[in-house]
Amino acid sequence: MSIPVVTLGSGVGTIVQDLERLHGPVTVVRRCAELSELIAACQSGIARAAILADDAGDVTAALVDRLAASGVALLVLADQEAAKARLDALKVAHAPRGSTADVLSGLITEAVHQLQGQDTPTLLADPARALRTGTAQRGAAAGDPRLGMDATGDGTAQEDAPGEGDGVRANGTVSAVWGPAGAPGRTTVAVNLAAEAAAAGKTVLLIDADTYGSSVAASLGLLDESAGVAHACRLADQGLLDQASLLRSALGVSLKGRRLLVLTGITRSDRWIELRPTALGVVLEQARHLADLTVIDCGFSLEADEELSFDTMAPRRNGATLRALELADTVYAVGAADSVGVPRLVRALAELAAAVPGAAPKVVLNKVRASAVGRSPERQLRDAWDRFGPAGTPITAFLPAEPATVDAALLAGNALLETAPASPLRHAIAALADVSVASRRRSRWAVTGAK
Ligand SMILES: Nc1ncnc2c1ncn2[C@@H]1O[C@H](COP(=O)(O)OP(=O)(O)O)[C@@H](O)[C@H]1O
Ligand SMILES: [Mg+2]
Repeated sequence: MSIPVVTLGSGVGTIVQDLERLHGPVTVVRRCAELSELIAACQSGIARAAILADDAGDVTAALVDRLAASGVALLVLADQEAAKARLDALKVAHAPRGSTADVLSGLITEAVHQLQGQDTPTLLADPARALRTGTAQRGAAAGDPRLGMDATGDGTAQEDAPGEGDGVRANGTVSAVWGPAGAPGRTTVAVNLAAEAAAAGKTVLLIDADTYGSSVAASLGLLDESAGVAHACRLADQGLLDQASLLRSALGVSLKGRRLLVLTGITRSDRWIELRPTALGVVLEQARHLADLTVIDCGFSLEADEELSFDTMAPRRNGATLRALELADTVYAVGAADSVGVPRLVRALAELAAAVPGAAPKVVLNKVRASAVGRSPERQLRDAWDRFGPAGTPITAFLPAEPATVDAALLAGNALLETAPASPLRHAIAALADVSVASRRRSRWAVTGAK
């Protein structure tokens, strides 16, 4: 079946006729005069791909998201190096203006297939994910410039494009800390995981991506009205984010003579719209270049807002969390270890399995205390988990309730390793971070399962 395509810009010129002459897999169904017309045409469902010929400057991550949400793949004709670099950074397919109709129809077909290969609208526009899951290997392995998918984003690495298994070239890993509503301790775990890894000598970037109640800055005593994460996402949206500008968006926190990099969260929760999933995906990709470890403090909700709304173009508040969970190498699911928190976590894990099937979360029960679950709380919790927890998802760690320890750290605006280095809670989080911490007494709060 032929792929219906809409075009924009006088630069398409003869391309339309050439494509028509092919009688091939692509049919131009409308030539639009303005971007708004193109978007409206895409929203009306008449097209599955769009060719933009005139102004690559119109292309932002937000536009890519909008088109992808309508199931429309994008191909941009661009010759200038700066424009190509921007498109590469946005992971937008592009081709030289002089490309033949054959080449263009091949690229469009590829881009459309790639879009179809993804399962939710939030994923559609992200070839980086396709690379990681292997679905984009063909174009990438062939060193195909069309996808511009060199993870460096500088357009220089297409000759030795990645082969199978190493779709993302950056070495850094990404951990997402997530958990259900009810303040189970996501931020506490995220901040201290990041702090432990940083103090152990790793380059660590901590990102506050909670679109409901960001609190990393407050936890670390940072006064930052400017929301580093929003700044980085803005640059990513414009295709201007690189390692240097990501670094400039971050604040440095000094820890045991080391430095933890922090992208602070949005200061008012009504600014959630600034954390667009595609832009956050680009931020994470750059983060892999910048840091050995990136830790994301996520929001709790996974509801796919678009299912609640007829407006499929509406931005999605939970898109940032979903994107972070999709792209993370490790997902920590934090739940409060009591009779409210555990059932909530079990339900949330079912939602996670449905929304991000590949997440393989590591369950962390926090605020473990006998007063909430009875004597031998770990055993009680393990028994309950065996009965009610999701099969094949064991508890990875138990973190003790230590209100005084955590309060003191919050008051000081510092990590536990600074304010309570000998505390069992600190030791349990260090073990979770796989950091060995010199200790005179062994903590009984251990990491249990395989990590
Ligand atoms: N292990 C713990 N023991 C005692 N209090 C804790 C522990 N972990 C977190 N808290 C407290 O619980 C509250 C919520 O923690 P926070 O990390 O902000 O949760 P979330 O990010 O999930 O909303 C905070 O007041 C925090 O100090
Ligand atoms: Mg939080």
